[in-house]
Amino acid sequence: MVTPSEKGSGRAGAGPAADHAADRIGDTSRLIHDPVAMQGVVTAARAAGRRVGFVPTMGALHRGHVSLVAAALEDCDDVAVSIFVNPTQFGPGEDFARYPRPLAADIAILDNAGARWTFVPEGAAIYPAGCATRVVVDGPARGFEGEIRPGHFVGVATVVCRLLHAVPADVAYFGAKDWQQTRVIERMVRDLGLPVELRICPTVREPDGLALSSRNAYLSSDERGRATALVESLRVATAMWEAGAACAVIEAAMRELLEHRGVVIDYAAVVDAESLEPPVDARPAVALVAGRVGVTRLIDNMPLRPRSGAG
Ligand code: PAJ
Repeated sequence: MVTPSEKGSGRAGAGPAADHAADRIGDTSRLIHDPVAMQGVVTAARAAGRRVGFVPTMGALHRGHVSLVAAALEDCDDVAVSIFVNPTQFGPGEDFARYPRPLAADIAILDNAGARWTFVPEGAAIYPAGCATRVVVDGPARGFEGEIRPGHFVGVATVVCRLLHAVPADVAYFGAKDWQQTRVIERMVRDLGLPVELRICPTVREPDGLALSSRNAYLSSDERGRATALVESLRVATAMWEAGAACAVIEAAMRELLEHRGVVIDYAAVVDAESLEPPVDARPAVALVAGRVGVTRLIDNMPLRPRSGAG
């Protein structure tokens, strides 16, 4: 399999720190596997008056992830990043087994980025044997990813809840790239009263607009060319939205563009940015798109300014 670093597509530079990545694997003060130890260092840092930021990831890090670390470093003293390929958010037949796991390169990237701790828990530490608890979010978890990938957001909410417990940070950072995920996590944090602030950071893109994703590494060069159809459909949606077009007309135009470029569409929609229900006048909206290019499933979105006459 081609790794993201081999393809170089959006891969954050490991730089000189790459040589030291193997050493870092043995550096128990910065690379932490045990959730209790992780909780201890964050609690101690906060007790010493330090503001701690947390960036949860599944690894295979690229500039999108690094932008979250940079945002965290701007308003925190210390930043923790977790790397955990969470089995429960993958459906049967999805890419859990082949999801890229370039741990040494990821650690080097995080060293360069200035993260203080890298938290890499074992599966059994997150899901102990006999674990019978799951976090189920309704509302924004309905539809779109929640419908196409049944159980996905149960897996996401459960692992993020568990990770926030292990990394009791002041602030947690998420990317707008996974828009519905941000809504689900915000709702969970609010509903459960979890003591953490959330920050949502903008999507980082390739020069041609393709949103960076660990899954871009799966694309052949022909598929990579066709993958820009997602962002192009979102640009069309934005222009039509600003010109006052009705949602159904915008969605039809998005579909036509995607189909023409050979994307197998899961959804192409304009919805309220918060509830993911049909847009409401004078409230922010978002255009959402997901589909398959070859066997690779990609998602993207673009925020839309509030307008009157949202229909
Ligand atoms: P992962 O896909 O590794 O993404 C980790 C974080 O990086 C998420 O908040 C995601 O939205 C953000 N991200 C991904 N691509 C981005 C881009 N191009 N620009 C900006 N941010 C980007 O999302 C997950 O992992 C998992 O679901 C997780 C929350 C870690 C739970 O397992």
